[in-house]
Amino acid sequence: MKDILASYDRAMLRDGWLFGDKGCRIGNPFAWTESERKGITDLEGLRALLFFYKMYYVEPQDFIEIDRDVLLRVGKGMLDVIRQYLPFADVSNNISCQALARAQDYAVIKAHCGDTFLSHVDVGPGLGASVLWEYGENYTAVEASPMSYGVQRLFYRGQREYEDTIVCEDFGEKPLVSAEILHVPSWNFHLVRDDSADLVTATFVLNELNYAGILWILCNISRITTKGGYVYIRDSDILKPGMHDISNDKALIDMGFECTYRLKYTNRHDYFGIPRVYRKATEKVYTFETLVDKYLGKHMTVSGGDEFKYNEE
Ligand SMILES: C[S@@+](CC[C@H](N)C(=O)[O-])C[C@H]1O[C@@H](n2cnc3c(N)ncnc32)[C@H](O)[C@@H]1O
Repeated sequence: MKDILASYDRAMLRDGWLFGDKGCRIGNPFAWTESERKGITDLEGLRALLFFYKMYYVEPQDFIEIDRDVLLRVGKGMLDVIRQYLPFADVSNNISCQALARAQDYAVIKAHCGDTFLSHVDVGPGLGASVLWEYGENYTAVEASPMSYGVQRLFYRGQREYEDTIVCEDFGEKPLVSAEILHVPSWNFHLVRDDSADLVTATFVLNELNYAGILWILCNISRITTKGGYVYIRDSDILKPGMHDISNDKALIDMGFECTYRLKYTNRHDYFGIPRVYRKATEKVYTFETLVDKYLGKHMTVSGGDEFKYNEE
C-alpha cells in the first residue's frame, strides 16, 4: 500500500491537483466518494479482498442468455484466488452472484460490441474478475482507490503476464506497457495510449464519483477509445445523491458517442444496473479543461461535494 500512496502523492504534486483552480474549485478526481460516505476507504490486504468478494450477495435478474462456459470460467477463477488466500471463507453465494453479473456483462458485449477485441480497458475494476473473460488480447485495469488497487494486485498476480506500473515506478523502471494485463493508477492514465482501446468498460463506477472524477474519466474515455470502439457501462439509471449530477449517458452523446444498446425495462429496481453500449462515432477528443468549461463553467465550485457546490451559472 505504501508504494501506491507514494505514487499518488507524487502525481498530486506533479499534476497540480492540490493547488489553485484544480485543488480549490474542481476537486480530486481520484476519490471514491460513494465508499467514503460509507466509511470504507482504507481496508488493506485480505480484509479488502473479502470486502470485494462479499460486495455481491444477491443474484442479478436474468435479462440475456449467458454463455455457461464464461460463467464457469469466472466462477472458477474467483474460487481459485480466494482459496489461495482465505481457504476458510464462505463465499460461494458471493461468487455465484458476481460471476453471473460478469457473465451478463460479457453476453451484452459479445452481442452488441462486435466479436474481437485487441484492447480492453476496464475502469474501476473492483475485484478485477472481468479479467477472467479473456476477451481482448490486452486487458488494462485503471483504478484510483489505493484500497481497490491493492485488491486487484492480489487478484491479478499469478494470472497471465501482468505488469503493475506502480511497481515499475517504485523500482525506477519505465513500464513496458505491453503486458497482457496492465495495471495503471488513474492519476497515471496517460500511460494508456491515445486512440488505443477498442472496448472500455465501467461497471458500477460512474455513479460513485465526484465531479472531478467523472470529468477525468470521461475525457480519458474520449482520448483512448478508437473511432468505432465501444464503451460499455452498467449502473443504476439514476444518479446517486451526493456524488455529481452529470448524466453519463448524455455526456457520452455530447462527446460524439452513439448509444447502440440500452436494456429496456419497466421497473429499474428489477435489475442490477442497466447495461448500455456506446460507440465512438468521431475522431474528436475532449480534454479535461474542455469538459470542466462545459459542465462547470468558470466559477462553479464543486470541490466540497455535490451538497456544497456553489456559483452555479
Ligand atoms: C462498486 S465498485 C465496482 C467494481 C466493478 N467494476 C464491478 O462491477 O464489480 C467501484 C469501483 O470503482 C473504483 N473507483 C472509485 N472511484 C474511482 C475513481 N475516482 N476513478 C476510477 N475508479 C474509481 C473503485 O475503487 C472500485 O474499483
